[in-house]
Amino acid sequence: SAASDVYKRQVWGRGSKNATDILMQGLEKLEYRGYDSAGIFVNGQETAAKLVKSVGRIADLRGKLGIDVSGTAGIGHTRWATHGKPTEDNAHPHTSTSGRFILVHNGVIENFVELKNEFLMNDTFKGQTDTEIAVHLIAKFAEEEGLSTLEAFKKALSLIQGSYAFALMDSEDAEVIYVAKNKSPLLIGLGEGYNMVCSDAMAMIRETSEFMEIHDKELVVLTKDNVTVMDYEGNVLSRESYTAELDLSDIGKGTYPFYMLKEIDEQPAVMRKLIATYANEDGTMKVDQDIIKGIQEADRIYIIAAGTSYHAGFGAKMMLESLTNTPVELGLASEWGYDMPLLSQKPFFIFLSQSGETADSRQVLVKVNELGLPSLTVTNVPGSTLSREATYTMLIGAGPEIAVASTKAYTGQIATLAFLAKAVGEAEGEVKAKEFDLVKELSLVAQSIEATLSEKDEIAAIVADLLPTTRNAFYIGRKQDYYVAMEASLKLKEISYIQCEGFAAGELKHGTISLIEKGTPVLALISNNVEVAAHTRGNVMETVARGASAITIVEEGVAREDDTIVVNQVHPYLSAISMVIPTQLIAYYASMQRGLDVDKPRNLAKAVTVE
Ligand code: AGP
Repeated sequence: SAASDVYKRQVWGRGSKNATDILMQGLEKLEYRGYDSAGIFVNGQETAAKLVKSVGRIADLRGKLGIDVSGTAGIGHTRWATHGKPTEDNAHPHTSTSGRFILVHNGVIENFVELKNEFLMNDTFKGQTDTEIAVHLIAKFAEEEGLSTLEAFKKALSLIQGSYAFALMDSEDAEVIYVAKNKSPLLIGLGEGYNMVCSDAMAMIRETSEFMEIHDKELVVLTKDNVTVMDYEGNVLSRESYTAELDLSDIGKGTYPFYMLKEIDEQPAVMRKLIATYANEDGTMKVDQDIIKGIQEADRIYIIAAGTSYHAGFGAKMMLESLTNTPVELGLASEWGYDMPLLSQKPFFIFLSQSGETADSRQVLVKVNELGLPSLTVTNVPGSTLSREATYTMLIGAGPEIAVASTKAYTGQIATLAFLAKAVGEAEGEVKAKEFDLVKELSLVAQSIEATLSEKDEIAAIVADLLPTTRNAFYIGRKQDYYVAMEASLKLKEISYIQCEGFAAGELKHGTISLIEKGTPVLALISNNVEVAAHTRGNVMETVARGASAITIVEEGVAREDDTIVVNQVHPYLSAISMVIPTQLIAYYASMQRGLDVDKPRNLAKAVTVE
């Protein structure tokens, strides 16, 4: 497809207060998601309407705002460039040639080149984005064909293919915001004498906790007193609102230098909170019976996810298979959207997603729903798209995860799946499930995490010694440790920019060992499995013989005097949780010691809302 420009961002407006303040606060709340430019447009009652854009941080945009930039309605946006450089011209909001129409957009207009060639050959564009084509198209239909703004918007929507969350303003009637959505997230926030719309509830919770969903291919006309939802034919739809349980107090960084460290530290509390959520006082499971039944009826569990969540699926695979006696297959969401393999007779889908908004995962869920198959979303964000659209939801309840690098969501996902696995296993009468004392074992995991967290200074020193200038590194392990190695290497590369491979220890000698040279850091993960531990140690020696600088991260039961980091023993089903903690800290210190922005690594966004 014709590549596109924008990624995730937010759009919104409102009524009675100063729209500039609300927009700026909202954009700031979503800064953690990753962006490279930003802009706002506000209508002006006493002063002229204002459009202000800036490359860089929201603080840069703030620096450009004069006191006259105020109004009663407006739209704002942060852009994460994928097509067209991060310049002011490419930043949103985009305007039509006359300046009458102003538009912000999340998503990808796949046919923007075709639309430009067919309708806009004589127009001049300021930048390279697909969004600019959309606003010119709307202007053409309104100004040349005499259509009303709503009709012009509808006509443009009938031609546009791809994903979008649009918010459109017409400066000739700048108290109205026109909104449309397809695939990209968008929520309406409702208030007394004001209404708003945004790609993430988080930016609106200071103002409201009352929300209304918008479904794909729906259009909304928003004023301070009214929200009219309609389909593309113009039929008005009735829609109930709901109250979201989000807590703004969780968002602060406190005294931490970075959110990532705070979130790493929160993991013991997340484990304990999950015990309270999914276990009764007597140790029995508190898991929805319909979910248990759904899995009991399935002949295969398919876990679909991306990035760290995908790795969490691997971390839980062995436990799920063992306790439920059901085979588990992992699917990379970005592949399965296009290449769904032959499914079993009775599949059950589990979507793992911290944000609940990952477009790759959602495109698979859309297909799963079309096939009428049952699904469960395990997510950290109540009311998120994947939660709303799956048959069932289990919440991780880890509190907002702000750092781009996911930590507590990974451990929280595995722990949540542990409750599910045990509940299903018990319902099946599986002895192993009955004997697995999850409440006790997860409490031990919380203690193990705490023990590792108390070694922060030692881990920081190891990193300073081993990884100060290295360009590449390897994590190796077998079985569960291999899965943790995949996650450990993703964490290291995404925030420290060290190229790192997570490798099956036994596979090194089949080719990759040729990359080992003097000083190459090799970090071996060795959990408590005597046979596997011996083999992995052998593989470490093979790399040391070729010049590698090895460090070993070893579980207590198989630890030796000369191991670098020793992790407290936990149940083998849960070792992916405790073994990942030192690797999160290693990534954190590698990034921090290099003077990088740990929470906002370059080129990355927190919620990846385009395919
Ligand atoms: C994790 O550190 C990453 N930034 C990324 O891989 C993330 O896990 C992935 O994009 C999936 O996100 P989700 O869990 O919100 O679906």
